Amino acid sequence: MQYAELTPFPEGFLWGASTSGYQVEGGWDADGKGPSIVDVRTDFPHGTTDYRVAADHYHHVDEDVALFGELGLKAYRFSIQWTRIVPDGDGAVNAAGVAFYHRLIDGLLAQGIEPVVTMYHFDLPQALAERGGWGNRATIDAFARYAETLFAEYGSKVTYWLTINEQNMMVLYGQMLDILDGPLNRGVSAYQKNHHMLLAQATAMARLHEMVPTAKVGPAPNIAYVYPESCRPEDVLAASDFNAIRNWLYLDVAVHGRYNPIAWRYLVERGLAPVVEPGDDAILAAAKPDFIAFNYYATHTAAAPLGEGDDAPIEGGDQQISMGEAGVYRAVANPHLAKNAFGWEIDPVGFRTTFREIYERYHLPLLVTENGLGAFDEVAPDGTIHDDYRIEYLRAHIEQIQWAISDGVEVMGYCPWSAIDLVSTHQGISKRYGFVYVDRGEDDLRTLGRSRKDSFFWYQALIKANALA
Ligand code: BG6
Repeated sequence: MQYAELTPFPEGFLWGASTSGYQVEGGWDADGKGPSIVDVRTDFPHGTTDYRVAADHYHHVDEDVALFGELGLKAYRFSIQWTRIVPDGDGAVNAAGVAFYHRLIDGLLAQGIEPVVTMYHFDLPQALAERGGWGNRATIDAFARYAETLFAEYGSKVTYWLTINEQNMMVLYGQMLDILDGPLNRGVSAYQKNHHMLLAQATAMARLHEMVPTAKVGPAPNIAYVYPESCRPEDVLAASDFNAIRNWLYLDVAVHGRYNPIAWRYLVERGLAPVVEPGDDAILAAAKPDFIAFNYYATHTAAAPLGEGDDAPIEGGDQQISMGEAGVYRAVANPHLAKNAFGWEIDPVGFRTTFREIYERYHLPLLVTENGLGAFDEVAPDGTIHDDYRIEYLRAHIEQIQWAISDGVEVMGYCPWSAIDLVSTHQGISKRYGFVYVDRGEDDLRTLGRSRKDSFFWYQALIKANALA
């Protein structure tokens, strides 16, 4: 639909930026922090760094928060590392870890920046992984206790909470990217783990509402609308199946407290349905999110499967490169879309479609907690960083947010990935996303100094104007 005039961004729109704890902080064993599954990883793709130092935000926190203030952020979305708060995942609380996030949150509030806190972003405590990870129902209780600690400590300062980052990506690609619960637990079905995470999420949402009635909480999956390759009815059905399996399974449980019927049928048919214990349905049904947060990078495109055994799966998928599944859907490239340097398609209009689909299904306010362009940024001899390609990407996506707002979608804010350069989930630090450049290479830590990219000044002006120029 076209409009004579677009609706402006509302007053108080949360212009923000995002990071996650393990990808930005470093200080992986500082001040009593315990190891998480990402800290103990050793199988990094050739030439890419681990997470021990990352952007060293742990030791640059005041400088970074000052830069976020200068950027003019209204919100900063970050994650708390479970192992900083509870080093073994389920035991004593680490006072120094608690203090670090008070310092961060207080610094943000002093700059007028709303903290948006993710409780868990891929960094399961290694001690819990050694006891069965998400396959063990005890992990649900450990998560609930950890969440209660967060609410008791930070509940008076933080209004916006996110439960679990990209649970759907952990289930679909977690083993490949080693972000679910480590190599130890590969024998257990990812959908049983998923069921336990859904229970952990529901328990945390309900507990937050009891402990901090003014707080607002939402799930934070990666939602990418799936197009059919063509209007051939079989392609449309395949896209509908992949939408149910990739997207709606997670949001239906989070919002309605019940499994999506098509996704559930898929799980039963494939022998993947989780064991649901008495009382689980009531736990899922009792929790109600206040909003939906979602990460969006690009849409996907699906075609009808050729037939059991005939589909050649695409090798090496990730969050944005789907692999297809024999008998369910074939993953195909969308010929109308360009790709970034890492093979991820770029689809700003699909962003608007994704907003509309989510809003029509769930009627809850939407907060974008990730969207951005990974690229190999170059520093010019005078120290400037001309990332005009990133500005272009962000501009095109922000335009589509305004179209979605004009469509009547309630959008709370936009937190692109990432506030500052950080280490990618599987492609190192050279795949940069930040408004702020961090001077380090994969192996060479260099100065770890910070510089403002061109996108920093562009986003600063946009936030000030509350509008695209
Ligand atoms: C999302 C994750 O999948 O995409 C982030 O929530 C991640 O943790 C981001 O960094 C970009 O992906 P990548 O693989 O380039 O780091």
